[in-house]
Amino acid sequence: MRTQRLSLDELQVDDAAELFAATDSLEVGEFIGGAYSPSVQALRDRIARMRAGSGRDDELWLNYSVRVTDTGDLIGHLQASVHPEWAEVAWVFGRPWWGCGYATEAVTWLIESLPSVELWATVDPGNARSLRLLARLGFTATTVPPARDVQSFDDGDRVFVRMPV
Ligand SMILES: CC(C)(COP(=O)(O)OP(=O)(O)OC[C@H]1O[C@@H](n2cnc3c(N)ncnc32)[C@H](O)[C@@H]1OP(=O)(O)O)[C@@H](O)C(=O)NCCC(=O)NCCS
Repeated sequence: MRTQRLSLDELQVDDAAELFAATDSLEVGEFIGGAYSPSVQALRDRIARMRAGSGRDDELWLNYSVRVTDTGDLIGHLQASVHPEWAEVAWVFGRPWWGCGYATEAVTWLIESLPSVELWATVDPGNARSLRLLARLGFTATTVPPARDVQSFDDGDRVFVRMPV
């Protein structure tokens, strides 16, 4: 799958080393409860679990690697847990690639790939970049705790939803 500057592919276990290197920084972990992953091996194991799926017919787990097409650099991970009427979405991008519009471009693609479901996201209130991204992409703040069973919700998080158009 392609956007103007990015290539999106199903996340593979063998992406773990590159994804770990891209996301291994204090800034990436600042508002997501600490390091995105503690080690390459832990990330390999986590990707393997993600690829195995939820084990439920009514919950599909989608995970995509995001690469800059020109360089091949793996710069981020898009995630969606898709239910019949709604999906929970999340993303992480490596610090060197912030501020280039890559997250906006990739998440726009994710939104377009999930056209007929509500999209839900949670965010730490201090995560200004993520708040700007959500606003830019048409998410609006909603009540806390979330009206859907959003797994990433932690006490203190803000909750955003984007209704299908
Ligand atoms: C949240 C996160 C994805 C946001 O990344 P980001 O780099 O700010 O988002 P984008 O890639 O869309 O870049 C947007 C910025 O690039 C600028 N930009 C530069 N070139 C651009 C282009 N061609 N197109 C769009 N925007 C561009 C925009 O103006 C914007 O700047 P601003 O934030 O100062 O307004 C990133 O900070 C991250 O991965 N954080 C760690 C994990 C995390 O917190 N995940 C979210 C949990 S809720």
